[in-house]
Amino acid sequence: ASNKKLLVLPGDGVGPEVMREVGRLVGWLQRRRGVSFDITEELVGGASIDAHGVPIRPQVVQAARDADAVLFGAVGGPQWDHVGFERRPELAILTLRRELGLFANLRPAVVLDPLVDASTLKADVVRGLDIMIVRETVGGIYFGEPRGVETLPDGSRRGVNTEVYTTHEIERVARVAFELARRRNNAVCSVEKSNVMESGLLWREVVTELQRREYPDVKLSHMLADNCAMQLVRNPRQFDVIVTGNLFGDLLSDLASMLTGSLGMLPSATLGAVDAFGRRPALYEPIHGSAPDIAGRGLANPLAQILSFAMLLRYSFELEGEALLIEEACRHVLASGLRTADIMSPGMARVGTSVMGEAVQRELEKLDR
Ligand code: NAD
Ligand code: IPM
Ligand code: MN
Repeated sequence: ASNKKLLVLPGDGVGPEVMREVGRLVGWLQRRRGVSFDITEELVGGASIDAHGVPIRPQVVQAARDADAVLFGAVGGPQWDHVGFERRPELAILTLRRELGLFANLRPAVVLDPLVDASTLKADVVRGLDIMIVRETVGGIYFGEPRGVETLPDGSRRGVNTEVYTTHEIERVARVAFELARRRNNAVCSVEKSNVMESGLLWREVVTELQRREYPDVKLSHMLADNCAMQLVRNPRQFDVIVTGNLFGDLLSDLASMLTGSLGMLPSATLGAVDAFGRRPALYEPIHGSAPDIAGRGLANPLAQILSFAMLLRYSFELEGEALLIEEACRHVLASGLRTADIMSPGMARVGTSVMGEAVQRELEKLDR
């Protein structure tokens, strides 16, 4: 079989720190499971601005198109907050999503048993939680036109962004949610603000119609986004799959991450459409950012990045067995009492990024024996 082409983009801040821990697992897969990767690494975000003057170079976008999968770390940081808006580090990830047509961002919020006490919510509320947030990622207010800042005749300024969704954009992301629901608990909750926004009303109509036509076996409910934020904290286990737009999905998934204990625990997969050759573009990344407040100190939790790699093995490389092994190894490490600072609780052993990564590798080796 030909090598699997993997593009690795560590980015800024804790990005490279947590990506290093995935490197160990790649080594293990190659040595022990005979998986061969063809790995290319490139700069993106602030690191690329410093080296090349732009957050992502065209040849890196092309490399992403050519790869079988992209593993992304995180971008951004205070040192680049003052560069022009069209050159911000964050443009790296936005450009990749847009250029590769990565429209469906899967963000699973799963509470692992050893971590029930790490959540700021009561254990009884979060125990056993397993929800999947499907966030649309190439449309909505992130990309809608018109946008910009303009100066008015009186010298004051006006900032503009526009929420736009077409029938096609809503349908394709909703289809992903329905398909996932069929493999899970068969329930989709569609989230928008159809009481205030026309694009939200269209969203509700299109999802309703699609369910009636193609997914009558899946249970569909609708919820206004503000209520959804409240319900996620009140009783998160009422949800199975949540499907929502770009901005609401961004907020609700950060919120959901705290149900699992930490933002440092949540992986994600962003998928595009299957092309004529049966290839599906895909990018994998933790949902957290570059965490400038802890960067450079070896404190970051590498599990979101490691679990993103497991998702990559599952969805892009059809290595379900290996993905399960890595997930199992993470559970074992947590059960053994190791904790990075963000998930620390009394009686546990506090460790840094690399000790956590090493421990996952050790567990893998044990499980594989
Ligand atoms: P953030 O996600 O970087 O951090 C929020 C909080 O969570 C911080 O206190 C941080 O220390 C903590 N945290 C995040 N990841 C962690 C980990 N792995 N282990 C332990 N703690 C962790 O969000 P922010 O501070 O609002 O943003 C910082 C920068 O990151 C900004 O420039 C932002 O634009 C960027 N960002 C990038 C991405 C991405 O690349 N996909 C995602 C979100 C934010
Ligand atoms: C995320 C991030 C990005 C987003 C930023 C960095 C552009 O917050 O992946 O959740 O808003 O989509
Ligand atoms: Mn976000």
